[in-house]
This record gives sequence, C-alpha cells and structure tokens, in this order.
Amino acid sequence: MLKAVVNGIALTYERRGSGTPLVLIHGYPLDHTIWEPVAPLLENGFDLILPDLRGFGQSASPGTSYLLADLAADLAALLNTLKIEKAALAGHSMGGYVALAFARAYPQRVRGLGLVASQAIADPPEKKVARYATAKRVEADGVNEVAGSMPALLTSNVDLQPRIKQLILRQRPAGVAAALRAMAERPDSTPLLSGFEFPVVIVHGVADQIMPIERARDVKAAVQNGHLIELEGAGHMPMMEFPRQTAEALMLLR
Ligand code: MLT
Repeated sequence: MLKAVVNGIALTYERRGSGTPLVLIHGYPLDHTIWEPVAPLLENGFDLILPDLRGFGQSASPGTSYLLADLAADLAALLNTLKIEKAALAGHSMGGYVALAFARAYPQRVRGLGLVASQAIADPPEKKVARYATAKRVEADGVNEVAGSMPALLTSNVDLQPRIKQLILRQRPAGVAAALRAMAERPDSTPLLSGFEFPVVIVHGVADQIMPIERARDVKAAVQNGHLIELEGAGHMPMMEFPRQTAEALMLLR
C-alpha cells in the first residue's frame, strides 16, 4: 500500500496499471479491497488509483464529524499529490456519493463518472434518523451488529458473504459512524446530473436489496451521456458478484 498525507490525513491507496486515470472509490462499510476482482481486468486501460477513504481500511480515522464533500476533497488532494489534473471516478454505493460530491466541487477535473450500485438522491428523513441511531450503536458496541446484518443484504451469493463479513469486521467504529453521519447529511445530487458534460456509466444489480434498480434508471434518464448496465442476478456488490461485466462497463470510461 502507498501512503500520502492529504489535508493533514494519512491516506493509504493502491496504484496499478497504466492509461486513463481512474479512481475506484469503495462503499460503506468497506475498503479498497472490494475492487480486487475487477482491478486486474482494468489495469490494461487505466492508471488505477484505489484509495481507502478516511476512516476506512488502513487510512487514518480523523475525528467523528465530516461530510462526503471532505472525502471528495481528500481525493482531489490525492490527485494533486499524484500530479493528475483530470480523472475518471467510479464509486460503489457511498463511493458513488463521494464521486458525485467530487463532480459537484471539481467538475472540470472529471473525465467520466461511474456509479456502481449507487444513486443521486439524498436520504429521506426516516433514513437519516436510522443512520444516526446506527452510528450511536456502532460507537457504543463496535461493528459486530453491522457485520452480522449487512452481508446478506449486500449479496445473496453465500460464497461471498463470509468474505464481506470479515471485511466489515476489519473496519473501525469511529470511521463507520462518521460515514453514516456523512451519508445522512449528503445533499440531493439530482439537480447536478443534467449538467454533466462527461460520460456517466451506471452499473446496477437488478436484485439489489439496498437500492432498487429504479434509482439507477433515474440517473440514466437525467444525464446527457449515460450508459446503464443492468445486471440480472446481481445484488449490491456487482464488482464482486459479476466482475467481468462490471469491468467491461467501466471500460467505457477510458
Ligand atoms: C453503501 O453500500 O455504500 C451504503 O449502503 C450506501 C447507503 O447506505 O446509502
């Protein structure tokens, strides 16, 4: 793993392949290793940058309160460190929210956007309340509850569930709780979509139990240059469940 100090925070990341810069942003409550199945399929066309977002993986976990815009600013600073002005960004779920926050703040630095099992809308009020409650429980009791309940929601593939559980158990309560609050506070990105001048690749499992496929269709309908790849039989983890199809879709960002 490589390390860079950005915005005063020690971020770890992996870098592999060559070609168009592509930042692959993991979702909640995971880390960059979710991309392992697709990275070898992309490294011929892309200079892949795979960060652990602050609070996750081996990156530092600073404080308990920040916004997804701060995570996007970390990525912009990481790209500065790597001397990359413009990149494609593809995010899984919460990583998609971070990619959208990046596009909101730095549209001129975006070559293309990938949304993998993600959406543009903000949380409805009851979801916000639930996130704050979960954040409190995680801070008090750790990540066991989340690690117990989430894998079956993320995928119906029983071979993948134990791996995902281990991945969640590796995450730190402070980072998980802060991400929950950051997601709760994210703005609706729908109004941004029609202004995107770059391609938007949307990959979504038809059997996603966390975000219905309609959220992906909504994004496709709102952008000018969108490609929607609907994966039959995939849940919320297309990059692990259907790596070849996910990689082929992301190749459109080259
Ligand atoms: C994720 O998979 O990153 C999260 O479940 C997204 C969310 O809870 O909105």
